[in-house]
Amino acid sequence: MRITVIGSGYVGLVTGACLSDLGFKVVCLDKDEDKVKMLQAGQVPIYEPGLKELLSRNHAERRIRFTHDAQDAIEHGDVLFIAVGTPAQEDGSADLGHVLSVASMIGCHLKNFKLIVNKSTVPVGTADRVRAAVNHALKQRGMSEDMFDVVSNPEFLKEGAAIDDFMRPDRIVVGVDDGIHREKSQRMMGDLYASFNRHHSRTVWMDVRSAELTKYAANAMLATRISFMNEIANLADALGADVDHIRRGIGADNRIGYSFLYAGCGYGGSCFPKDTQALVSTAQAHGQHMHVVSATEQVNERQKTLLVDRLVQRMGEDLTGRKIAVWGLAFKPNTDDMREAPSRAVIKNLLQRGAQVMAYDPVASHEALQALQLDCADQADLLQNFTLVEHDMDALVGVDALMILTEWKNFHNPDFQAMKRSMRTPYILDGRNLYNPEALADLGIAYQGIGRRNELIHMDIDPVEENTSALNA
Ligand SMILES: NC(=O)c1ccc[n+]([C@@H]2O[C@H](COP(=O)([O-])OP(=O)(O)OC[C@H]3O[C@@H](n4cnc5c(N)ncnc54)[C@H](O)[C@@H]3O)[C@@H](O)[C@H]2O)c1
Repeated sequence: MRITVIGSGYVGLVTGACLSDLGFKVVCLDKDEDKVKMLQAGQVPIYEPGLKELLSRNHAERRIRFTHDAQDAIEHGDVLFIAVGTPAQEDGSADLGHVLSVASMIGCHLKNFKLIVNKSTVPVGTADRVRAAVNHALKQRGMSEDMFDVVSNPEFLKEGAAIDDFMRPDRIVVGVDDGIHREKSQRMMGDLYASFNRHHSRTVWMDVRSAELTKYAANAMLATRISFMNEIANLADALGADVDHIRRGIGADNRIGYSFLYAGCGYGGSCFPKDTQALVSTAQAHGQHMHVVSATEQVNERQKTLLVDRLVQRMGEDLTGRKIAVWGLAFKPNTDDMREAPSRAVIKNLLQRGAQVMAYDPVASHEALQALQLDCADQADLLQNFTLVEHDMDALVGVDALMILTEWKNFHNPDFQAMKRSMRTPYILDGRNLYNPEALADLGIAYQGIGRRNELIHMDIDPVEENTSALNA
């Protein structure tokens, strides 16, 4: 069985690399010619741990290749994965433009039976629309409409741990519908993932619509856990409780578990924000309202402004003349993905208030600059006050505060004494709860985490102006 993956982004490349590593002959297609050239030259356009090594090994062994040629790609695969983007539209619904244009393209090149596997996250009913688009193209060519089947196989990988997630899946969701190809499609999907089912079956078989909805339900549930904990954290702040104790206290309950219970400065990324929006929009289109998911989104939007609000409480609305360091730009560690990263909203907000921002990220600097240029396109001069630095400590020189927005491992154990010496005001706003508030209080560093008894810890901290002048003296 040969594989074609259409769309060579985070999901497509990981899928292609992992399947080639399992011995399949894989062709990855992308419409972006520059991306294809990079991949052919052995470069990887995204940062994902282990991906470069996996691709170069399988490329060298001729199990994977990259192309821009649709006909070549469609002819190659018995299985055609669709792994193109499904970004949010203005109204929150998923933009299916890429998926449907791939479907038409498949219909234009189909010559014999192919199994079309939809890996993109798509609203319920998309498989039917893919089927219709392929059929339309086939009909125009005067070809039979029975030459293919469409199944749903949503992807659950996490950026930053994508290879491991793909190679050791908790479950593989496959949606197959009744029809003349059902048996064949099910057998092909079974063969495709047989390596993961040797010990016990990880495949959860269902109908296509349920599979499509499963992906949205999973992301909405995870996002809801985060927003729930953020609300608990904000309440903990008001009450003088510590959300980290609460996290351990509830996570120990088997019915709840420890995952996705970390309070922070909001979730971002290419999936949670757009998938929760799309779910709300799908429900609306069917006369339903997703109350919980809508609240999850609202809480997240508010959470993204929390750190700047705290800074403003101390320094006033106008941050002109203030220098603020930011550690962490990517939406999460181990990726350079800046899609919907909270850092974008935070940095734009700081710049609009007149602050100077010194930012550091171990891998996402280039992508961050591009994202901010986009965000500030209508106020380009804002970026004059934005500086990217190459080392974490370089961001701290003479700053009034440090904001931590991504929990990169190398931020876990910094030299606090050196930080204190470097900063004009030793003040850390920790959007990822990396540090021990008591330990930092002992070091004389003002510290505000998310839900970490901030008010109690800060009762004895001087106002910013006095603190600043004392340190300057
Ligand atoms: N990124 C994740 O963590 C993740 C996880 C699970 C599911 N998903 C879902 O998977 C899908 C893909 O996400 P992604 O993050 O990999 O997107 P991405 O933007 O990184 O990659 C999409 C790729 O598809 C290419 N493309 C678009 N139209 C094309 C066409 N007509 N022909 C060939 N190539 C085309 C683009 O050039 C791009 O390289 C989305 O639906 C997303 O929601 C993403």
